[in-house]
Amino acid sequence: MQDALATLRDARTGPDAFRQTARRISVILAMEALRDLPTIETTVDTPLETASARRVGADVVVVPVLRAGLGMLDAVLELVPGARVGHLGLQRDERTAVASKYYSKLPPSLRASYVLMVDPMLATGGSAVSGLDLLLAAGAANIRIVCIVSAPEGIAALHDAHPEIEIFTPAVDRELNAQKFILPGLGDFGDRLYGTI
Ligand code: PRP
Ligand code: URA
Repeated sequence: MQDALATLRDARTGPDAFRQTARRISVILAMEALRDLPTIETTVDTPLETASARRVGADVVVVPVLRAGLGMLDAVLELVPGARVGHLGLQRDERTAVASKYYSKLPPSLRASYVLMVDPMLATGGSAVSGLDLLLAAGAANIRIVCIVSAPEGIAALHDAHPEIEIFTPAVDRELNAQKFILPGLGDFGDRLYGTI
């Protein structure tokens, strides 16, 4: 995880390697975040005999926050191919850093689901708090957040608004700068993912 993080932070990493590495780190993070996923005992017939087996025993819903969260989506689907997917479009104003919603499409019946909201950057926490509000309003009750780089300010904002929500992140960086970018951070994740710098 730390090796992948070093590649993501490195300003020389181009979009191709950035996308590949975002996927690599997201598989590991999703594994951590879903460690307590229940399983059910079953059997499967091998070509030779019947073997006992275990299958995923809960509904998993992954919710990428557009657009940067899309860089983490395939990793979670690789891990849990049967997961349902919701999309939340949240955009930070470049001047004020305040997030606003431009899109929301969530699967129905979220109450019993394991909901994984994936957004690589937790800066002021404004996007994460808005995303959580939308998920809770839609009926989700078991939500965890997966971020690749977090700022202390964002963690504090999230804890203030939703102290019960668990955050899975491998990096808590030093601080935000005047433009509300994370320091040392890795820059604008969405721009680096899609080459829109
Ligand atoms: C980035 C990032 C988070 C948000 C974090 O998205 O992917 O969603 O900023 O900042 P916050 O904690 O201060 O809200 P951005 O709004 O830049 O959109 P993008 O994914 O389309 O680049
Ligand atoms: N969004 C990013 O992509 N990077 C930051 O440092 C802060 C918000």
